[in-house]
Amino acid sequence: MTYPIRPIDESEWPAFAGVLQEAFNWTPHPTQTERFKSETEFDRTLAAFDGDVIAGVTSIFSFTMTVPGAQLPVAGVTSVSVLPSHRRRGVLTSLMRRQLADIRERGESVAALYASEATIYRRYGYGRAASELSFHIRRHGSAFVRNAPQDPALRIRVAKPADVSDEMQQLFASVVSRRPGRYERRPQTWTGLLADEEFDQRGAGSLRAVLAEDDGGVRGYALFRVKSAWDDNGVPDGELRLFELEAADPAAYALLWRSVLDRDLVSRVEAGTRPVDDPLIALLADPRQLRARWGDELWVRLVEADVALAARAYSAAVDVVIEVEDDMCPWNARRWRLTADLTGAECKPVEDEPDMTLPITALGSAYMGDGLLMESLEAGLLREHSPGTVRSLATAMSWSPKPWAGLTF
Ligand SMILES: CC(C)(COP(=O)(O)OP(=O)(O)OC[C@H]1O[C@@H](n2cnc3c(N)ncnc32)[C@H](O)[C@@H]1OP(=O)(O)O)[C@@H](O)C(=O)NCCC(=O)NCCS
Repeated sequence: MTYPIRPIDESEWPAFAGVLQEAFNWTPHPTQTERFKSETEFDRTLAAFDGDVIAGVTSIFSFTMTVPGAQLPVAGVTSVSVLPSHRRRGVLTSLMRRQLADIRERGESVAALYASEATIYRRYGYGRAASELSFHIRRHGSAFVRNAPQDPALRIRVAKPADVSDEMQQLFASVVSRRPGRYERRPQTWTGLLADEEFDQRGAGSLRAVLAEDDGGVRGYALFRVKSAWDDNGVPDGELRLFELEAADPAAYALLWRSVLDRDLVSRVEAGTRPVDDPLIALLADPRQLRARWGDELWVRLVEADVALAARAYSAAVDVVIEVEDDMCPWNARRWRLTADLTGAECKPVEDEPDMTLPITALGSAYMGDGLLMESLEAGLLREHSPGTVRSLATAMSWSPKPWAGLTF
């Protein structure tokens, strides 16, 4: 059975949102759905219809996202949901196929998403492209190394987040290009972030902000909540839940971390998502005190492989012929010669013998610079025809800092 697919208009929003609520077992607060609606780009929604019933949906946020050495228009895929009554009948597969064609037509060469389950998206050509750490650290194990940067000109300002929204937005905009995976935020995203409604607080009170600044202006900020507690002996046992910490320079970064780690009456700081190469790890005198859990973060799909590969920067010179396998986007499935050095890159169709045969997922995984090509080679998942060529491609595609988006979309 086929299900006709088209974008929805605003009048169909309740039915669209209803599919999300069923699929995610989500009972949103009315303000959450209103906010979500205000962020929705209706011309980029897709719904699959079974008669009058919307059986499955997805949509896209149009992002400018940082990739190694560049910022690109990237399709941020979201709201992927199929009604429980219509699962495992190919609804998602047909939505994904249509969506990839639409993305290509729009001229975006890369799509990215957060996956609710890591098993879903490989079949559509997405590769695991970024990782995250969530960790907690006890206040008393959090001393920094002796040479941690300090700047006497810096001071901490305590503020209500809503009052310093503009300053935080400006600071964020100034650092967004530094790390692959970061994306420019729209004003609605900030509104949602700072809305601070009770259902977001989960017993940890209102959102709080500290800014690091000097006479020249703001150099960083941290956003967090604090759940107050005392143990049975009356010892303070509060938990600080860090939401975001951004800084323009190392001294501001170190000061902000000290500000959250040293907060009175707090015994532990919990960070839900941080990059795997968070500089905090280098700052801690005893990095073992960081109790961390690893997780996959962004998944990336090269929609136009040659355009995407030519658009990013490379860490080393490379000249390889890649045979790409791609069932969903057959225009990618051919041999490409990728030639890159530190000044630029080119990716041209060729008929030459390939140095390697790669599924499109492997290129998506490597695209943001996470170095996952060697992992796949060593796992026996890639076919290398000319020895050493995967290593040279992996070296050229790896990037520092490591990719991390930092805010789920
Ligand atoms: C994930 C979801 C959208 C899949 O929709 P669907 O219409 O059932 O998917 P399809 O029928 O097109 O399935 C395509 C393939 O993916 C597999 N698949 C789909 N969802 C899967 C899941 N959650 N886990 C493992 N495999 C899954 C199917 O078995 C099928 O495999 P096959 O091609 O080998 O036969 C749907 O289960 C859902 O709404 N889940 C809850 C919300 C959610 O997690 N959304 C994703 C947000 S990132």
